Amino acid sequence: MEVLIHDSAEEATVVAAAAIARLLADKPDAVLGLATGNTMLALYRQLVRLHRQEGLDFSRVTTFNLDEYVGLDPQHPDSYHRFMREHLFDLVNIDLRATHIPDGQAQDMSQACADYERAIERAGGIDLQLLGIGRNGHIGFNEPSSSLASRTRVTPLAAQTLKDNRCHFHQEPMPSSAITMGIGTIMQARRCLLLAFGEAKAEAVAQAAEGPVTAMVPASALQFHPACQFLLDHPAASKLHNQAFYASQRAES
Ligand code: F6R
Repeated sequence: MEVLIHDSAEEATVVAAAAIARLLADKPDAVLGLATGNTMLALYRQLVRLHRQEGLDFSRVTTFNLDEYVGLDPQHPDSYHRFMREHLFDLVNIDLRATHIPDGQAQDMSQACADYERAIERAGGIDLQLLGIGRNGHIGFNEPSSSLASRTRVTPLAAQTLKDNRCHFHQEPMPSSAITMGIGTIMQARRCLLLAFGEAKAEAVAQAAEGPVTAMVPASALQFHPACQFLLDHPAASKLHNQAFYASQRAES
């Protein structure tokens, strides 16, 4: 795992967008794993800018999103389907048929989960997975105590997640469960970029990067990932013990 501490969230976001642009230059038909949430907003704005101003081409890209709330129609204003249309898909030249988001309304949820895993496999696996992190250390909606080998499945949302995400909901009640890629699914991505900004994420980041690997901090599984970078701003990095080492690592690269 590599920890990169940036002067600002903006700088980290530009680095993440540049990594995606490089990947698409090398492999125009790359498979991207996408996340939603506040952390991703500036990154998607940056990708849209690169598309409009520098011709970043999404026409051959395939995407798989991490998660969706159970019970929400894709048109629901608070669904992750809508989030992705509004913040990325409708603003770049992506083929919507090549975008995948778990179906929160599937009749047969376990079949939908198995199909999602198979679709990722058929696409050749995920080249680059974007991740945010919850204040409780979740990635996707893999909440504390999720198996580190878990696959796409339906899971209840933790109390902390319900509390943190309730403010994004225009309509009550907020769903209490979600369909999410598993930690095992995420770990198979060839590369992971986890973005975290702001002091509210500092404890989760410190536990994920420097604490023991434990199902109680799902993001700590990333310590076993062979190509994972944490892109942080200073407040999100503020509880890391090893900051001087990460800075020296960065100076040498
Ligand atoms: C969203 C997702 C979540 C978020 C995390 C951070 O698709 O998978 O794990 O990345 O909850 O959310 P924000 O960025 O809103 O703090």
